[in-house]
Amino acid sequence: MTEAYKIVDHTYDVIVVGAGGAGLRATFGMAVKGLKTACITKVFPTRSHTVAAQGGISAALGNMSEDDWRWHFYDTVKGADWLGDQDAIEFMCREAVPAVIELEHYGVPFSRTEEGKIYQRPFGGMTTEYGEGPPAQRTAAAADRTGHAILHTLYQQSLKHEAEFFVEYFAIDLIMDDEGVCRGVMAWNLDDGTLHRFRARMVVLATGGYGRAYFSCTGAHTQTGDGNGMVLRAGLPMQDMEFIQFHPTGIYGAGCLITEGVRGEGGYLTNSEGEKFMERYAPHAKDLASRDVVSRSMTIEMNEGRGVGPNKDYVHLHIEHLSPEIINERLPGIAETARIFAGVDVTKEPIPVLPTVHYNMGGVPTNIHGEAILPRDGNPDAVIPGLMAIGEAACVSVHGANRLGSNSLLDIVVFGRAAADRCVALIDPNSNQPELPKGAGENSIARLDSRRHAKGGTSVAALRGEMQTTMQAHCAVFRTHDVMAEGQKKMTALWAKMDDMGVTDRSMVWNSDLMEALELDNMMLQAVVSLDGALNREESRGGHAREDFPDRDDETWMKHTLAWIDENGKTRIDYRPVHGNTLTDDVKAVPPKERVY
Ligand code: SIN
Repeated sequence: MTEAYKIVDHTYDVIVVGAGGAGLRATFGMAVKGLKTACITKVFPTRSHTVAAQGGISAALGNMSEDDWRWHFYDTVKGADWLGDQDAIEFMCREAVPAVIELEHYGVPFSRTEEGKIYQRPFGGMTTEYGEGPPAQRTAAAADRTGHAILHTLYQQSLKHEAEFFVEYFAIDLIMDDEGVCRGVMAWNLDDGTLHRFRARMVVLATGGYGRAYFSCTGAHTQTGDGNGMVLRAGLPMQDMEFIQFHPTGIYGAGCLITEGVRGEGGYLTNSEGEKFMERYAPHAKDLASRDVVSRSMTIEMNEGRGVGPNKDYVHLHIEHLSPEIINERLPGIAETARIFAGVDVTKEPIPVLPTVHYNMGGVPTNIHGEAILPRDGNPDAVIPGLMAIGEAACVSVHGANRLGSNSLLDIVVFGRAAADRCVALIDPNSNQPELPKGAGENSIARLDSRRHAKGGTSVAALRGEMQTTMQAHCAVFRTHDVMAEGQKKMTALWAKMDDMGVTDRSMVWNSDLMEALELDNMMLQAVVSLDGALNREESRGGHAREDFPDRDDETWMKHTLAWIDENGKTRIDYRPVHGNTLTDDVKAVPPKERVY
């Protein structure tokens, strides 16, 4: 029987879950307009994973040479391999320019050009003249610590606007009513062990991705996709979860990110023969091809025996030819990271790198206002009342099958702001909220209680390790039916083994064993739908490369995957159409064509 837990009740207009860039931008955007808003976060806001974003934020400011948001739009549609919704991409690329200027005015310490303008560097897949011109210098940077600078500035803005924070609170589950309306969220205060029931007119999930479902990823250990787990448990679908981005340059062994900005500043990759192999795979863009293209090329080099090292399982990234002054001014962070985690002095030696899990293109399906959507009554985009998602937790879908580097810092500020604007338009701050359904939150507490008292023989760490190595081996850069089917079998066995979980700490205060068990529940759901979605999609597109189906198949597969999962770990798959139309006549939709760089 579930132990009796005391619950503390709260009522807000809006609850934002997560305090990375998206969560903070949404939180203070609402607070400043008078909505009673609280932000729940499992880590202190400035420790959120946005802090780790390095290279920059894209916007066609045109500070270094001519640029146009429509060229940015074209590059993003092509980068997404025609799985992105073109209306949403138009919205993001157009809004990019005012969004970055707004960040500048909020106080983000961007690097500067000689004339004092925001410094911008080239990034993969960013071009001019609708792909016909030279690479664009479009990625606005604060050295190689852009995410750090943005996150701290947004937190300062939140404090200025007196947003309320519940720090080190772990969100457990959504509260849904019988009509399918989201009415709030349950959370556990890690610091004193109390449980909290937050009632709200809108819950905004800004909980990030689930990179930690893999063994090696550039993401923080906290990146467990808790919001996505809550949505799946609520019986709602995820979109396009099979599209997982491998960043070409994670440090061999440690997995730490070495920014694409390194290649933007003139860095290049070589194989064991010292060959700049990207010239063969992407003769035009070379090392600045789109991430999926570079990661696949590196993997082919290693698979064909031209990897570096005794096991031929990494390649080299060079910046020794850059002047120490440039490295010091524009890439100081990666010089330090390479020294600490690879023992390399970047002014003298190359960095050992390999493709490493970095970003989830999939997530909660939303419209451009951040509202969660679900096909219903013939409407593929019907809104789920009371629920929003933004940032990496969401799939708007602006990144489609492959995200371009520096479009994610952009995504978080554009859609964080859009969600705030939508809440301000929808919610009357003075209106009374209906009572919560009877027994709201009890199921969540029962789940927490059963994990807390789990007495099985397998530790959370062992189960998590098995999931991570399975995903790493069976849902990687290149995929085949047989390898994924084998992975699916392993995941089914692991799902059953979750019943043998053992949690040793029974307390409620700073019980990291229990928190990791709840995080694992969230990751398992996402790992299963990702693998099942990948097995189901019989084509190659963006980050999803099937060796047994090497071509993109627009006829059959230019559609979003929707995946639900039941309590037995069984996935159900359906689809939503891709929006091939733009939002306005200011830019023309880009019809699908071959994607070459
Ligand atoms: C990087 O700097 O390479 C990472 C930033 C991003 O993923 O957009």
